[in-house]
Amino acid sequence: MPLRGNWNYPTAIRFGAGRIAELPEACRSLGMQRPLLVTDAGLARLPVVAAALDILRAGGLAAGLFSDVRPNPVGADVLAGVAAYRAGGHDGVIAFGGGSGLDAAKAVALMVGQSRPLFDFEDRDDWFTRVETAGMAPVVAVPTTSGTGSEVGRASVITDESDHTKKIIFHPKMMPALVIADPELTIGLPAAVTAATGMDALSHALEAYCSPVYHPIAQGVALEAIRLVKEWLPAAVRDGTDIVARSHMMAASSMGATSFQKGLGAMHALSHPCGAVFDTHHGLTIAVVMPYVLAFNRPAVEARLTALARYLDLPAPSGRAVLEWVLRLRAELGIPERLAALGIGLEAVARLAPMAAADPSCGGNPRPLDAPTLARLYEDAIEGRLAG
Ligand SMILES: [Fe+2]
Repeated sequence: MPLRGNWNYPTAIRFGAGRIAELPEACRSLGMQRPLLVTDAGLARLPVVAAALDILRAGGLAAGLFSDVRPNPVGADVLAGVAAYRAGGHDGVIAFGGGSGLDAAKAVALMVGQSRPLFDFEDRDDWFTRVETAGMAPVVAVPTTSGTGSEVGRASVITDESDHTKKIIFHPKMMPALVIADPELTIGLPAAVTAATGMDALSHALEAYCSPVYHPIAQGVALEAIRLVKEWLPAAVRDGTDIVARSHMMAASSMGATSFQKGLGAMHALSHPCGAVFDTHHGLTIAVVMPYVLAFNRPAVEARLTALARYLDLPAPSGRAVLEWVLRLRAELGIPERLAALGIGLEAVARLAPMAAADPSCGGNPRPLDAPTLARLYEDAIEGRLAG
C-alpha cells in the first residue's frame, strides 16, 4: 500500500511524497492568485523554499516571500508579515516550515483582518470571539519538519516581547484549510533536528494520552502516533533519506497535534518558559524534560501507561516499561539527559517556575501543578534526578 492519501480529518490533507507539485492548484482551490509564502529566516536560505517558489511561478501564481521570522517567533515578526502581505497586495498565505514558520504564518493570516492588537487573541476565556473572521486570509500549510503538527493546529505560539512569555493565539479557523504533507521536504533535515522534532511529536501524543480529559477520539489517535514514533523515529534519524520512515513520522506529527486538542501537560509547561527566556529549541527542551515529567506523573496514570506498554509491545508492560523505553529512545537519539546541558542552571528556577505555573498547558496534566511542584521538576531535570 503506498504511503499516500487524501484525508479530510482533521482538515483536508494531501499526503504523500512529491505532492509539493500540487501547491499551485492547492492555492487556486482557495481562491489565491497572489499568495505570500511565510517561512523562517533559516529555512528561506535552503533550496526547499526556492524550489517551492519556482513551482508556484511555473504554475502561474505571483507568489511573494516573507521570511523575517526568527526561531521562537515574536509579535513584531507577525506584524512585519502583515505589513508585507498588505504591501504586496496578497490574497492568501502559504504557511511553510517547522513550528516557527507555520505558527508565524498562521498568525499573519489571522491578523491581516483584525483591528485589535495580536495579544488580544490569546487563548484565554472566550477571547477568540473577538476575532473578525471575515478578514482572515486563507492558508495552505506545508510542513517541512515532523514534530510541531502546527499544520493541523488551531493555534500559534508567539512570544510576547513585552514580558518574555510564550502566548497561545487561538481561533478555530486558524486550522489551515488545506495541508500538503510531503515527506520528501524533510529529507534534508539534519539528524539532530529530526530527533528533537520527532520527540516533540511524541510529547504531543504522550501528553494528550495521559491527559484526564474525556476525548476517546483523540485518545485513539494519540496511541497510534506513539507507536509510529517508536517504530520509525530511530530509522529516520539513522538514515534521513529513508522515505518510509520520513512518511510515518510526518503522519505521526500531524496525529500528535490532532490528539492534543485533549490537552498537553507539564512537558510543555516546563519547556515554554525555557524557550521564551533562553531561546532553547522547543523539541530539544521537550525531549530533555520528558522522562522527568513521565516519572512524576506515573502514579496518576499507571493503568493507562500499562495499556500503552501493551500496545507498544514492551516487555513486562507497566508505567516503568514506558519510562524505560523513553529513556532508551532519548539516549539512542543522542539527546542530553539534563537541562544543564542546554545552559539552564538552578539559578534560573525561581524565574521559570512561576512562568510554567501560568502556562495553559498545565491544565491537561494528570497530576495538579503549582509553582513549587514545577520548581522541583525543573531541579530534577537540571540535576538528573528521576522520581520514583
Ligand atoms: Fe510541542
